[in-house]
Amino acid sequence: MPHWTTANIPDQTGKRAIVTGSTGGTGYETALELARKGAEIVIAARNPAKGEDAVRRIRRAVPTAQVRFEALDLADQASVVAFADRMLATGRPIDILVNNAGVMALPTREVTGDGFEMQLATNYLGHFALTARLLPLLTAGRARVVQLSSIAHRRGRIRFDDLNHATGYRAWPVYAQSKLAMLMFGLELDRRSAANGWGLTSVVAHPGYARTGLIANGPLVRAPFQRAVMAVILRPLIEPLISHSAAAGALPILMAATDPSVAGGAYVGATRLMELKGPPGPAKAEPQALDTAAAARLWEATEAMLGVRFPI
Ligand SMILES: NC(=O)c1ccc[n+]([C@@H]2O[C@H](COP(=O)([O-])OP(=O)(O)OC[C@H]3O[C@@H](n4cnc5c(N)ncnc54)[C@H](OP(=O)(O)O)[C@@H]3O)[C@@H](O)[C@H]2O)c1
Repeated sequence: MPHWTTANIPDQTGKRAIVTGSTGGTGYETALELARKGAEIVIAARNPAKGEDAVRRIRRAVPTAQVRFEALDLADQASVVAFADRMLATGRPIDILVNNAGVMALPTREVTGDGFEMQLATNYLGHFALTARLLPLLTAGRARVVQLSSIAHRRGRIRFDDLNHATGYRAWPVYAQSKLAMLMFGLELDRRSAANGWGLTSVVAHPGYARTGLIANGPLVRAPFQRAVMAVILRPLIEPLISHSAAAGALPILMAATDPSVAGGAYVGATRLMELKGPPGPAKAEPQALDTAAAARLWEATEAMLGVRFPI
């Protein structure tokens, strides 16, 4: 069977899509392809200059694109509330929500203004709160909601006694926890939508290893020597063998967001080389992601942390 490509994306005319963190990387490529297929796009991101630049680049590539920037900092709950309120004020249903924004393996523990550890806050808590607050519009649009996970979830454990890793912060386990949480959230959201009649379809995607800004902005942010090694050795020699482009990494996300044959509760990813690269298709979720009791416990703990409840 031929591989799934952007040619498989059905016409999206009349649909309204929000893609978080779509100023670069997989988010930008997702927004671009959805715009190409006629969807109206909201670039939801924290940096207005990068946001307006993404809008310009999409308009250059797709002159008919309906695309605009809306400020959203997922690490700031007030920003999440303000963004959701602006969307709710329009009263317009949302057809696609892609919870894509993320940071990876920040070398030292950072804390948001709300008191949450930065990786958990950006990757998971912000998206949980955003989805809860947008629920009326997602229900109205019978939306497809896509959560971004990662093969890093394999090593993830949910530290229920200390979700914020107040003690013993280690960059990678904390990232892995946030991506496991996104996978558990996406699967649980689909179960709860079916049980409560919310009418949305929740699918989880991972890009494999896509060449984006994620590494430079995370683990290498304060490591000039490793940055140089990356630029001289890893980037040109090793990375091409084990990774693919940001556009290829966006394909599982696009498949999850648009392919009607992908059912709610599915997990879609890159399918070759231990899911590091290759065409999109079914991905393997580790047992800890499929533990429904743990997913329910995480859901309740997250609602309590955020003071946000589904449905609002
Ligand atoms: N690349 C991979 O191989 C890979 C593998 C597995 C999973 N993923 C997941 O894929 C998603 C996209 O990552 P990427 O690889 O495309 O990385 P990227 O190029 O660094 O893009 C990340 C995006 O998230 C945005 N962002 C970060 N913090 C934010 C915040 N607080 N509020 C709003 N936006 C924020 C960034 O905005 P700024 O431009 O302002 O920084 C950027 O637009 C992430 O969830 C990541 O965990 C990536």
